[in-house]
Amino acid sequence: MNKDYALNLDKRHILITGASSGLGRATAVLAARLGARVSLLARRENELRETLNALEGEGHSYWLCDLSRLEDIEPRIREITAAGPLDGLAHCAGIGRNRPLAMTRPDFVRNLMIVNFGSFVELIRSSAKKKHINDGASIVGVSSVAALKGDKSQGAYAASKAAVNGLVPPLAKELAPRGIRLNAVAFGMMKTEMYRIFQDGGGGGEELRGQYLGLGDPEDAAKVLCFLLSDYSRFITGTVIAADGGYLS
Ligand SMILES: NC(=O)c1ccc[n+]([C@@H]2O[C@H](COP(=O)([O-])OP(=O)(O)OC[C@H]3O[C@@H](n4cnc5c(N)ncnc54)[C@H](OP(=O)(O)O)[C@@H]3O)[C@@H](O)[C@H]2O)c1
Repeated sequence: MNKDYALNLDKRHILITGASSGLGRATAVLAARLGARVSLLARRENELRETLNALEGEGHSYWLCDLSRLEDIEPRIREITAAGPLDGLAHCAGIGRNRPLAMTRPDFVRNLMIVNFGSFVELIRSSAKKKHINDGASIVGVSSVAALKGDKSQGAYAASKAAVNGLVPPLAKELAPRGIRLNAVAFGMMKTEMYRIFQDGGGGGEELRGQYLGLGDPEDAAKVLCFLLSDYSRFITGTVIAADGGYLS
């Protein structure tokens, strides 16, 4: 095979939030295998170290940051990019807790909206400063099928992912003059810790019946995210792609 035509992230500096587990960890592992220099971000240091140890190649690093503290994001971005601007950002960090309406209290809603949506806006805003991200970079948000077809007890979660979807078209237009692309992926159910918690809460059965390709692996998500981070998706921006095992069809 001619290597010039292979999908790669050679020498790209990619920031991956939520890299301590699940989809973020799998994306970091694949991005590094595809040649990227990866900056990992989350709160749990031991788990971030485990991800770091699983990465091929050199120059990777990890950064602790609680994304619910929006004011901490810009200084972190400055530190992360001190050794070179970003070529890509995948926002995999998120909270996936389901609660019935009676338990959907203000603190719960606020936290979901801040981590799933608000921190994504702040990550993009702080990165979009000229010296922090290169022209031609790619930014990807992780959304969910719940934004379009949420189940009982998913009100706040579904709304936080719908907010991510709503953000994509207008910001993609603002970023386009610099060739920076912005997309999101609405994932169906994937085999991660979040899914286990969802299952423990009684969820999963009904949704999985509609997801006729079965439960996704984190590696399936990583492939879609790395495609969107790569030049193979050069003509895709401002859109929300479904990677859902058929659930929305
Ligand atoms: N699994 C699914 O079926 C599924 C389906 C559709 C969409 N999604 C979305 O995919 C994304 C990743 O989920 P996952 O399934 O991989 O779950 P996961 O294994 O629980 O990962 C969640 C990640 O988010 C990070 N995180 C949570 N709160 C944070 C905070 N305040 N600050 C910084 N990082 C924080 C966690 O890191 P720390 O705890 O170390 O901070 C962890 O790395 C989420 O946005 C989720 O909504 C998942």
